[in-house]
Formats: sequence, C-alpha cells, structure tokens
Amino acid sequence: MDQKSLLKLAKTHGTPLFIVDHKELIKNYKLFRKNFPRVQVYYAVKVNSDPAIVETFYKLGSSFDVASIQEFNTVHDLIAHLPAKQRQDFIWDRIIYANPIKPVETLTELDKYKPLVTYDNHEEVLKIAKYAPRAGLALRVRVPNTGSMVELSSKFGALPGEAVGLIKFAHDHGLTVEGLSFHVGSQCTNPQNYIQSLHLCAGIFSEAKTAGYNLKLLDIGGGFPALYDDSVPDISVLAKSINHEIDRLFHKDIEILAEPGRFLVASAGTAVSKIIGKALRNDKLCYYVNDGVYHTYSGIIFDHCIYHMKSFKKGPQQLCAVFGPTCDALDTISLAENLPDLELDEFLYSENIGAYSNASSTHFNGFPPAKVVHVNQ
Ligand SMILES: Cc1ncc(COP(=O)(O)O)c(C=O)c1O
Repeated sequence: MDQKSLLKLAKTHGTPLFIVDHKELIKNYKLFRKNFPRVQVYYAVKVNSDPAIVETFYKLGSSFDVASIQEFNTVHDLIAHLPAKQRQDFIWDRIIYANPIKPVETLTELDKYKPLVTYDNHEEVLKIAKYAPRAGLALRVRVPNTGSMVELSSKFGALPGEAVGLIKFAHDHGLTVEGLSFHVGSQCTNPQNYIQSLHLCAGIFSEAKTAGYNLKLLDIGGGFPALYDDSVPDISVLAKSINHEIDRLFHKDIEILAEPGRFLVASAGTAVSKIIGKALRNDKLCYYVNDGVYHTYSGIIFDHCIYHMKSFKKGPQQLCAVFGPTCDALDTISLAENLPDLELDEFLYSENIGAYSNASSTHFNGFPPAKVVHVNQ
C-alpha cells in the first residue's frame, strides 16, 4: 500500500494498527494457482486465522489446512449454511486436519465429519482408530528442511523407512491411508528440499503399491517463500522444478495438494505503530513504539523473521534501535534500523508482516493486540 493511504488509515483508526489488504491476498492466491495448475490449494489457516482472510480465500475457491478444532470451526462457520450433503462433501474434499498429533477430544468431535487427518506414529493410529474411526488418513513423512527459515522436521514426520509399516498398521486397525504429506520447513528457498521430498514420496508410493496399498494423494505442504527481499527466488522458479518432478514421478490421477500459508498472506499485512518514547543510550537513538515483540512483531521470536521499520518522513538517517512498549528487554524489534530523527507521536511501519504475526500476538503487560483493519475487501 502507498504511504499516503497507510497514514490516512493510522490517523483514522489509531495505532497500533494491522492492515490487511485483500487485493494482495487475491493476487497471491491467483499467482500460486497460475504457477501450480495441478495443485489444489489448502490455505494454512494458522498463518493468519482472521475470519475475513479465511472468507476471502473461501470465495476464491480455496480449500483449507486446519490444525486445531478452533481453526476447523472457523472454516466450518463459512459452510454452516450449506445443505448437509454439500457441507459433508466440502469437509471431505476441501479440508485437511494437518496436525499429526490430535487431542482425543478433538478426534471425538471431528469423527462425525469423516475428516482427512494426518498422522505420523503408531500411538496416533490407536487414538484415531478409537476416537475417529471414520477419518481418512495421510501419513506425514519426515523430509529435509535444509536452509528453511523455520525447521519442522525435528517435531513431525515418520522416517521414510517406517512409512509402509505405518500404512499397514493403520489398515490393520480398520483405517484407510489415502496418501502422504510432508513439509519442507517454512520460508523454504532451497528447491532441493521439495525435489528430494518428491523423490522420497515417489519411492514410498511404489513400495506401498507392492505391499498392496494404493495411495491416491500427495500433500506437498507449505514452505513457499514470501518475497521478503531480493535474495528470495521468484515462485515461478521454484514452481518450474517442482511441477516438473510432480509430473515425472506421479501419475496424473494422483491428487496433489499444497498447504501454502506465508506465501499467500505475508505481503498482505502492514503494521503501523506510533513513537511513544525516545532516548539516547550509548550514543544510539532509541525509539519506543506502541507495538512490539509480544504483539504484531511476535514473528521475530516465533517465526525467526526479521522486519524492517520504515518512516513516513524523509531526511538524514542514523542507526537506531526500536523497542516495543512492554517492560521486557526481549521486546526489541531491532537494534539496527536506519531511520531519520523523528518526534513523539510520529508513525513507523513494517511491510510484509501478514504471516505468523498478529496470529501469535498476546496481551502481555496489559497491552492488547493491534487493531485490525481490512482494506480492498
Ligand atoms: C502442516 C503445515 N502446513 C502448512 C504450513 C504453512 O506453511 P508455510 O507458511 O510455510 O506455507 C505449516 C506451518 O507451520 C504447517 O505446519
């Protein structure tokens, strides 16, 4: 968004402000579809679960990756008006519960919807067989996450060597394994992670077939990178090699899913905050703003993401620190931003902050999360 519109919104709504541009959401969704024509998009709701964002993707025809009963219900609210059969078809065809570990209460609640869920270990099979026996399964496989900004392979995924045994175990307990899923780690700029994962999965597909299990779907997860800076390859570069390998390794009847999150929402979010304090410490100008690491900038901690602060004012710049409003020293947005000399009540903003940001905002120290404003809806 241009600076003039951002300033106007900040003055109208006050700060801290989190602005979601739906035109950008639509652009990103269409760009993803264009680059991956064979892939069904399941928006990963956790990345930003704002119902208005979920609704925009719903209207575009997106499917959904949910990872808690709350996220499931956010999507379910959008289809609650549909006739029972259509609603059930939507749940089966367009929602995946992609958290390999599920509380028994969640499984019990999900069972009536006959959902598609992921799993990656024996204990989970026993739980699903007992509490959600009508669920379909996708086995989450551990794959390389080399170089990805957020590593996921240490927490989830069956080893490729265990895969067919786990598929058999599920079938022996009366469940059906529909296919495989993986995640290469978030903000993955290394195409080799996808390529190696596709090869691993193709091997498992063929081993499973020999053992008598016909897998029908492959979920290639998330990881598609947002263009935070010039070093990030364009999605078309990644898509070219991924699509080539998908077509080479998987028969056209195999359904291919993806769970993009960051790629779809990062560039649609902008945070505007106000300078509430100023100090000179060790000769460095320090700004204190009314948003921080416990709030919209929580991605600095949870997402390992770096956000830059921009000023609406031009002028000679100097190296500054920018801190959040709480009493904790962890609440540091940056120790090295180039900013001009600004006064109290002037605004700063950060772009590309739509993913894993206000989703993990807290009320720490009594400061509430930033107000959310939707534009171009
Ligand atoms: C299972 C699963 N799918 C999709 C995503 C979204 O990933 P990304 O934002 O990298 O596209 C995540 C993120 O943690 C995830 O855990």
